[in-house]
Amino acid sequence: MAALLLGLLLFAMQSPPLPSRPLIIIIGVRKGGTRALIEMLSLHSTVVAAQNEVHFFDWESHFQKGLPWYLSQMPYAFPEQLTVEKTPAYFTSGKVPKRIHQMNPNIKLLLILRDPTERVLSDYTQVFYNRLQKHKRYQPIESVLVKDGEINLGYKALNRSLYYIHMQNWLQYFPLESIHVVDGDKLIKDPLPEMKKVEKFLNLEPQLNASNFYFNKTKGFYCLRDHGRERCLHDSKGRAHPHVAPAILQKLYQFFHEPNRKFFELVGRTFSWK
Ligand code: A3P
Repeated sequence: MAALLLGLLLFAMQSPPLPSRPLIIIIGVRKGGTRALIEMLSLHSTVVAAQNEVHFFDWESHFQKGLPWYLSQMPYAFPEQLTVEKTPAYFTSGKVPKRIHQMNPNIKLLLILRDPTERVLSDYTQVFYNRLQKHKRYQPIESVLVKDGEINLGYKALNRSLYYIHMQNWLQYFPLESIHVVDGDKLIKDPLPEMKKVEKFLNLEPQLNASNFYFNKTKGFYCLRDHGRERCLHDSKGRAHPHVAPAILQKLYQFFHEPNRKFFELVGRTFSWK
């Protein structure tokens, strides 16, 4: 009897506990529209979203706390509900796919991507404002983007926009069918069709409809309507990007041309960015 109990205990210690409720992760990309996606998804009655970015699989200090800690970060959900969390840094963090796979190889993942050049400008804008808030100086965009007349390959934001490199890593652990790519540019222009695709991918009852979204002229973006209550995303979402000299912008678009082609090949579909 004691041996049986010990055996059971050892078994329980070896196999990580699976989340008791279906969990969906929005893995990125940073500045792709991840906040818009999670907010729009949580308009659905069977989706409950974690408020904060959990950073479990990418931050060692969190990861060491173990899966029970991760699951304890999730909001309360009823048995029939899905829980969703978003941590945009997962997509570009090399160790994350293996870790998520170890937790659940059958998990459904959402990835929202936008034009890689726009994403770089958005990334720059975010860091710029973060530094401004801390009263720190930041280099002008052109001196970050270009070094010695060429695109500055050392600029981290560029790497985050090399989608095929990161996607290759994810596809080593998950089949393409497990990762739904949301078109972030389309989500900005017309959110409903993109959200209907997400509903379908997650096998959710079709619920989202045109009345859930309305265009707010002042913000210049779609806002959300939830049972009559209207709300837009925070002011830090949808900020103007800095002006970049057309010649540099052109260089940037050219720089991404080949990596984009490789990404399209990898996922078997194209996007408006070329
Ligand atoms: P910008 O602020 O550069 O325009 P994330 O949430 O991943 O940080 O992404 C932020 C981006 O979401 C914003 O980048 C914005 O373009 C995009 N976005 C998509 N839909 C939006 C919406 N309805 N309201 C505000 N921003 C939205």
